[in-house]
Amino acid sequence: TVIVVDYGSDDAQLLARRIREAKVYSEVHPYTAGAEALLAAQPAALVIAARSSATEALPQIDDRLLTAGIPVLAVSGGFLAVVNALGGTLAPTTELSHQVVNINNLDDNAALFSGQDSAQDVAVNVAHTVTEAPEGFVVTAWDTVMPVAAAENVEAQIYGTLWDPAVEASSHGQAAIRNFLFIAADLTPDWSVDQVIEHQVAAIREQIGDKRAIVGLSGGVDSAVAAALVQRAVGDQLTAVYVNHGLMRKDESTEIERAFGASTGGAKLVMIDAEADFLSALEGVSDPEQKRKIIGERFIRTFEQAQADIVAESAHDPNATDVRFLVQGTVYPDVIESGDADGSKVIKSHHNVGGLPEDLEFELVEPLRQLFKDEVRAVGTKLGLPDEIVWRQPFPGPGLGIRIVGAISKERLDLLREADAIVREELTASGLDREIWQSPVVLLADVRSVGVNDGGRTYGHPVVLRPVHSEDAMTASFARIPYDILDRISQRITSEVAGINRVVLDITGKPPGTIEWE
Ligand code: XMP
Repeated sequence: TVIVVDYGSDDAQLLARRIREAKVYSEVHPYTAGAEALLAAQPAALVIAARSSATEALPQIDDRLLTAGIPVLAVSGGFLAVVNALGGTLAPTTELSHQVVNINNLDDNAALFSGQDSAQDVAVNVAHTVTEAPEGFVVTAWDTVMPVAAAENVEAQIYGTLWDPAVEASSHGQAAIRNFLFIAADLTPDWSVDQVIEHQVAAIREQIGDKRAIVGLSGGVDSAVAAALVQRAVGDQLTAVYVNHGLMRKDESTEIERAFGASTGGAKLVMIDAEADFLSALEGVSDPEQKRKIIGERFIRTFEQAQADIVAESAHDPNATDVRFLVQGTVYPDVIESGDADGSKVIKSHHNVGGLPEDLEFELVEPLRQLFKDEVRAVGTKLGLPDEIVWRQPFPGPGLGIRIVGAISKERLDLLREADAIVREELTASGLDREIWQSPVVLLADVRSVGVNDGGRTYGHPVVLRPVHSEDAMTASFARIPYDILDRISQRITSEVAGINRVVLDITGKPPGTIEWE
């Protein structure tokens, strides 16, 4: 394992991901774990990640990490901190804030740059530059603003760049990471999805032991993959709960039931039909925040009830009363608080779909915590989940409830479900599914417009198509769907869904729009 030691950097997870892309297993650990514990894990190499800002002091790097005889890669603020720790000289600069610099002077004899072009684009974002490398170091890249843009001390096995090789704008960043792993640290690229599964299955077995766990399936890929992993690990000690709140898309509940049944492992699936309950609680409510609160609250109550039922039903089983573990499909982008790497804590706050019971004390099982979405998908496929689940678009917990502008009713939901199903069908048929991050369809239930059909007047509702491209849902741009596909979608919706007589396209970015309308 390569440990990325995170001293409050923004891209520690990205570094770990790049290392895994090079087929070497990597995990992020916070520096607060302490040098002793980090070294006790016997990492094959260390990466030091830190931030350099004008207002905060650089972190103090624990000497033991640099002298343990383990290869070290220090990048960006981490490089500055290491240089600082080893007696080099730094100077503040304002010229390296969010810059992409074309560097012309790279030593291709250096381990990190061997076999690469001697001119490269490098992405830097630091508030200091290195003016003098520490004793024993050779400068391996330089530039006017960065007299020591990169340096190495082969004997001490310490390598560093002032730029961030994990960022895509660094043209040879991945090549430098590979060189660190395979030349400097002499590692073997042998990590694979099978190993993640093996590793996680073992960890889950150890955590859960002979106790019981439950998982809430949301229909999303994350919870499905997490459930499948836990199912593989502990079989029928897992009960999956799926709450149909009536705000799901067309056929969603059936698809989930089928997919879960197909991924063998013996876990039980409890389907709860709470449609009537949710819809009556939502009746007449059109304020988005209020909708979200009601849905969240209902979800908590339903889940609590399910948990109580599971315990009651299996009263003969001594472990059943100990439904102690809750499986969550938390993936790295959801991990707000880095520093919680052991993967278990008592829930304090709401999660996802209106969260989980605050007063229920579960221990969390989060086997996907270190993974990115595409890695989660690879694991899902390996575990035998069907493409409909694995390649499913992100879908918000409150479901179609936040895609109806206006009050929610069964009739309105049915209209939206039909229109949404057509959009999904057409995008799938045109092979665009994997390109598009998400394509919500929004019903403007309080808006009506005049139209004409078969020579007669119509007075129906518009739907909005909201296809977006995104990397992580934090920002998004509208997806440029070819006109002929849009045309087909529009014709099908207006002819097949009575009550919808207009289709409009949302071309707003995020920001200023959000992806969902509510
Ligand atoms: P916005 O609309 O904020 O959405 O741009 C960003 C991403 O989050 C999803 N989303 C949610 N997911 N519970 C969820 O599980 C929610 O309450 C929720 N609200 C928005 C949205 O679909 C998009 O992927």
